[in-house]
Parts: sequence; structure tokens; C-alpha cells
Amino acid sequence: MPSVPMQVILKDAFEKRYGVGAFNIVNDLTMDAVLAAAVETRSPVIVQVSLKTVKQMGARLLALMFEEMARRVQVPAALHLDHCPDRQVIQDCVEAGWSSVLFDASKLTFEDNLAQTKEVVALAHRHGVAVEGELEAIKGVEDGIGSENGGAVVALDKALQFVRETGIDSFAPAIGTAHGVYKGTPKINFERVSEIVEAEPVPLVIHGGTGLSDEVFHELIRRGAVKTNISTQLKITMADSFRAYLNERPKEYDPLKLLNAVKKDVQAMAAGYMRVFGSAGRAS
Ligand code: 13P
Repeated sequence: MPSVPMQVILKDAFEKRYGVGAFNIVNDLTMDAVLAAAVETRSPVIVQVSLKTVKQMGARLLALMFEEMARRVQVPAALHLDHCPDRQVIQDCVEAGWSSVLFDASKLTFEDNLAQTKEVVALAHRHGVAVEGELEAIKGVEDGIGSENGGAVVALDKALQFVRETGIDSFAPAIGTAHGVYKGTPKINFERVSEIVEAEPVPLVIHGGTGLSDEVFHELIRRGAVKTNISTQLKITMADSFRAYLNERPKEYDPLKLLNAVKKDVQAMAAGYMRVFGSAGRAS
């Protein structure tokens, strides 16, 4: 089916309290695998792309590839740009017909972030594109963006002001999760999710999904953090799959057999998360 607006996908998830996986794909194979997982589990899905991948492939090629792949499957799917501080790339994606963008102005002051996010929302909404907002930098580096330490957590009233005044469609708060592989058990601020959602009912986003337990996902989703981001696990699964296939078959030279084996592994990984998030069976 044609791509479904992010607002529609997140509204249903937020109202019914299930999580929708947003998987950072890196090429056609992984986009195909994530969509196949959504078909397998009858799940809505978000195909997410890091800025680095957009710079490598181009906003328009990714949009065309996504539209064609999404058209062939009967599940709601949206195309989302992950952490992007670059206004030009945001504009390229909006004009190329992406579903949603994360304007990451977390390095700016509160006032500048607020002002610039408002401008991005105005541009995106004119094109029917949704905007994810970020105020406090999420810990960890995601495809070259961010820092190991993350940013300061702002006072709750500031976060609420940001959500209200910018008109963003989803919000990524700092709640103790981090991009990359966790070194210890993360200390999650569940209360912060409830405080934001109770005051401003906006779908929240879980960054740093790789390595969180099923229980943590369930509790965060129950409280309203319904967009659940997975990037690192996709990269690990993909690389391990290539390695295992080639190591086991040193004389195999058929590229399609290799790529199909990797697709199968990435699909299984994504389908597993979809079952945990509770999106399985929700595609109508
Ligand atoms: P992980 O690195 O934990 O998979 O986080 C993904 C993410 O939040 C993308 O923005």
C-alpha cells in the first residue's frame, strides 16, 4: 500500500499503547528485510534512516525505493529521517516525500532549538510531513551523531513548553537510554515518560532500543513511549550474518544466495522485536 503518514501510525499506537519499531536500515536489503518482517507479523513499521546513509544514497533514491517497496506490501509503513541537525537535508527529505524527520537541534540553546524546530515544523507540515523533536541530546553516538555523554536534562516545564510551542508530532526525551551497546544496566527514568505524557499527550520515542529488556520496553510503551528505535542490533545481525554465511561456505560465490540469507536473519531479528513491542497483528 502507499506509505502511511507517521501521524496516523503513531496515533493508533499511542491510543492503543503498543510500540512501533523504527529500524535504521542501511540499504535496499535491510529495507526489504524490515518490511518483510512487518508482513510476516502483520505489523505497522517505521523504516528509519541515519543521516550518514542519506548522505551516501541520497534522499530521493531512498524515497523512491521506499515508495516502491511499501506499495508492494499490505502493512502500514512510514519512512523517517533519524537525528538530523542539517536543515538542508531535512528540506531535501521533506521535498522528496519522506513521512517524517527528526530535527536534532539538541546542541543548540533552548531558545534557538525552540525557534528552529518551529521553522522545521512549519516547513514539514506544509508538505504533510511529521516532525520528531529532541531537546536533550541522547547519550551515545548514532552513526557519527551525538556524544558519549549526552546532554543535560532540562526541567519538566521547559520540556513541556518545547512540545507545546513547537507543535512537534513526537518527542524524544532523555530517559536514561543510550545509543550503541550498553556497558551496564541502564537506569531508566520511567516517571519522566509519564510526567510528559500526562501533561502533553504526545507519542514519545525510545532511542537506544538495542539491549533494553522486554520488561523495560513494555513499561515504557505502557506509559506512552511508543516509537521504539533499533539501529545497533540491525548492524550486528547483518554483519554477523555475512560473516557466518561466508565462513561456513568458503567456496560459495552466488551473491543472491548470500544476500537472501542475510535478509532472512535481519527479518527474523526485526520480527522478534515487533512481537515484543506488541505491534504484531495490528496491521489492518
Ligand atoms: P540503538 O543504537 O540502541 O539501536 O539505538 C537506535 C536509535 O535510537 C536510533 O536513533
